[in-house]
Amino acid sequence: MLSPILETQAVTRIYGGGGARVVALEGVTMTLARKEVLLIMGPSGSGKTTLLSIMGCILRPTAGRVIVNGKDVSELGEDALPDIRRQYFGFVFQAFNLFGSLTALENVEVVLRMKGVESRVAAAQAMALLERVSLAHRAHSYPRNLSGGEKQRTALARALAGEPPIVLADEPTANLDSRTGRDVLMLLRTLAEEAGKAVAIVSHDAKAQDAAHRVIVLEDGRVSS
Ligand SMILES: Nc1ncnc2c1ncn2[C@@H]1O[C@H](COP(=O)(O)OP(=O)(O)OP(=O)(O)O)[C@@H](O)[C@H]1O
Ligand SMILES: [Mg+2]
Repeated sequence: MLSPILETQAVTRIYGGGGARVVALEGVTMTLARKEVLLIMGPSGSGKTTLLSIMGCILRPTAGRVIVNGKDVSELGEDALPDIRRQYFGFVFQAFNLFGSLTALENVEVVLRMKGVESRVAAAQAMALLERVSLAHRAHSYPRNLSGGEKQRTALARALAGEPPIVLADEPTANLDSRTGRDVLMLLRTLAEEAGKAVAIVSHDAKAQDAAHRVIVLEDGRVSS
């Protein structure tokens, strides 16, 4: 296997304190390599979203290390994290919703603009990304007029803006019919195999196992297999 682009070492995450204290992750050590799709499974509340958020440097671990491309991110200050996120990660998170007042194309374009891409170039690149997820024909539609699968593909195009080497997706097939869900998963697999991305997916969907090269299962915040 290729050397990992991302690693967690003995990561623990505790939320709250006192009576509200929740140990969401405990001693999680895992790796993610380029060209692979890693599936993270486990029951509700087992820590999957927490792990993905820590992998993506959105959330900090209470203890343990996160290493991105050989760099120990846990040692960096809070103000260094946005740059790490921009440089390395594309997120397909339910919490990262599309902007309702922007078209599909503009939703992708705005991310490129934030990365400093000049406006005309950004428009062309955004269209190319929509083509990659087979959505160019809906480029000028607003999210409210897109189906669930089309919105998810727009979110995927947006996650790919700026060519991040790592793509993290939390329940990317939730609310999709079985066929559209399969298409989204196969697209993620293609991104790993053909574009060399490191892809981590959290999913309850049995179809995700077909798209994955490797599976880890969380139970009560620990890796069980
Ligand atoms: N911000 C928070 N504050 C306190 N507890 C939290 C917070 N976020 C998550 N938790 C708790 O941490 C545990 C793990 O949550 P997490 O969201 O990672 O689970 P999950 O595996 O993604 O679940 P699901 O499949 O339902 O999305 C749960 O017990 C949850 O209640
Ligand atoms: Mg979750």
